[in-house]
Amino acid sequence: MKIEAKIIFIMGVSGVGKSTIGNLLSEELNIPFFDGDDFHPEENIKKMSKGEPLNDDDRLGWLQTLNKLAIKQLTNKGCVIVCSALKESYRDILNANIKDNAKWVFLSGSFKQIKERINKRKGHFMSSELLKSQFDILEEPKNAIKIDISLTPKNIVAVISNELLGKSEFGLFGLGVMGKSLSRNLASKGFNISLFNRHVEGVEEDVAKNFKNEFDELSSAMPFDAIEPFVGSLQKPRKIMLMVNAGKTVDFVIEDLLPFLDDGDILIDGGNSNYNKTKERFNYLKSKNIHFVGTGVSGGEEGALKGPSIMPGCDKDIYKDIQPFLEAIAAKDSNNLPCCTHIGTEGSGHFVKMVHNGIEYVEMQLLAEVFVMLKALGNNPDQIANILETWKETANSYLLEITIDILRKKEEDDWLVNKIMDKAGNKGTGNWATIATAQLGVPSTMIASALFARYTSFYKEERIIASENFKENTIINLNLTTDDVLKAYQFARIINHYQGFKLIQEASKNHKWDLNLSELSRIWTNGCIIKSDLMVELVTVFKTTNNLLTNEVIIQKIKSLKPSVKKVVSECILNEMPIPNFSESINFLNSFTIANSSANLIQAQRDYFGAHTYQRINDNSNEFYHTNWKNN
Ligand code: 6PG
Repeated sequence: MKIEAKIIFIMGVSGVGKSTIGNLLSEELNIPFFDGDDFHPEENIKKMSKGEPLNDDDRLGWLQTLNKLAIKQLTNKGCVIVCSALKESYRDILNANIKDNAKWVFLSGSFKQIKERINKRKGHFMSSELLKSQFDILEEPKNAIKIDISLTPKNIVAVISNELLGKSEFGLFGLGVMGKSLSRNLASKGFNISLFNRHVEGVEEDVAKNFKNEFDELSSAMPFDAIEPFVGSLQKPRKIMLMVNAGKTVDFVIEDLLPFLDDGDILIDGGNSNYNKTKERFNYLKSKNIHFVGTGVSGGEEGALKGPSIMPGCDKDIYKDIQPFLEAIAAKDSNNLPCCTHIGTEGSGHFVKMVHNGIEYVEMQLLAEVFVMLKALGNNPDQIANILETWKETANSYLLEITIDILRKKEEDDWLVNKIMDKAGNKGTGNWATIATAQLGVPSTMIASALFARYTSFYKEERIIASENFKENTIINLNLTTDDVLKAYQFARIINHYQGFKLIQEASKNHKWDLNLSELSRIWTNGCIIKSDLMVELVTVFKTTNNLLTNEVIIQKIKSLKPSVKKVVSECILNEMPIPNFSESINFLNSFTIANSSANLIQAQRDYFGAHTYQRINDNSNEFYHTNWKNN
């Protein structure tokens, strides 16, 4: 930490912890430490050891010595001097000729608090009278940094260095993998930041401090493990980004922060929170005059460090306050524009991140199904990786690239992928996306199918039994070429993106968010997990329509790819190979491109058993009919 050379005097009555703090601060600032008591002349020491109190005359020479010491240290790096300096007149002597370069820290505590502290210290005793006499003569300094000694020494030091260096522009709360990467990203862009991570005895200790010490770019970051000084270290209106686990933790953290926040402060939730909860938190905090931003952040650990895609949802004028930070750390698109934009209000940022993850689930599932097919065609993981390598030319994506890396990874004599248990986990966003699509009445069937494929995978033990009970045809004879698989893959990806963006568009209408699909696809062209060449194409497509399936280029693509997906899905089903997402893609298109569907029979059935009524074709009156179906 660099500061202009300064003399830092730490003062207060006996027992406030001046030496402890002084030592820690000198370590933190890398400047020498001096204990004033070590500079008393012989006569003073004799007097004190006899238990006689020093008078002002006794103190004069000693204070002048300390002042000389301070003047000398100022020509070097400055220093920390601890000294009780209870009276203003003592401080005037200490300040002589260095007033502009002296900083005073007053450690303040109550009589009771200090008495208890002293008595707890081994081998220390101070009579109540002596301590009381110190309180009696204490003249509280006016221009000192006053610090409550109930804070931990570490946090006291953080407050002092913060006051000396000035306040931070941005705070990061929670230093897990993503929080750490975002912090380093912010600091490397030149922002002054404060870092907070909770203290959990024996589990999470000194996380912020150790993290700060680990990376050069964090040299001027301020680390904390207590909330009050962390909040106090930030410029107002404070901007605090929460990088904590989604769910109840966010509410607990909000409650912990609230007592220390002021009107107009801004909390940014950068986790994968449920958009409904974000809306609730937005309204709750609004009632307390605190602004809340629910923001999607995509790109994993590396993205967060080098440039994620960021999806903030909040009031437009609040976005202006956080824009410089978020846009500076975001990935850049091919025109060097930040992959971060104001999405819309309330939960819209987390909503689009949720759908992003839904699209991500499908993209991953499709590649998993491709893996199954290419394996069935006789390829080992390395050979599959080589095939996928050739797909980059026409179907490149981040997920394709990482899949190639994964397939090439070997452990001893086998590919690592072969050793991984086939049970897919999830953290909830695919689940919420499926719920949202059902609630909004949007047929984003591929997201649901990818989610359920993960759920099915989880029944490993039952699957083993079922595989013995049901499998008949064990000889696989897949009549496909890798080109068929590639084309089917391209087809299914278009349907996936159609369905994902359709869900966003319908939510936008429903919640009056006024979302811009072209801008959204633009911020997903880099930094995020679903960045791809197709996403780049969509930026242009969505400039003219919100409905992918009406775009002429897309229509022609789908038409030319359709024969392959039909063949791929049929072959896989004949060979009893599970390809739920591929089959859903063609089933959806078949259902969607049929002018007259079988829903007429559904309506009749509903009317039969429940008198739910139906409408008739060629009847423009919008009238609903009921039939007594039993009497012919
Ligand atoms: C991202 C990812 C990220 C995380 C998912 C994983 O955009 O960076 O989506 O947010 O990897 O939450 O979700 P599952 O555990 O549900 O697969």
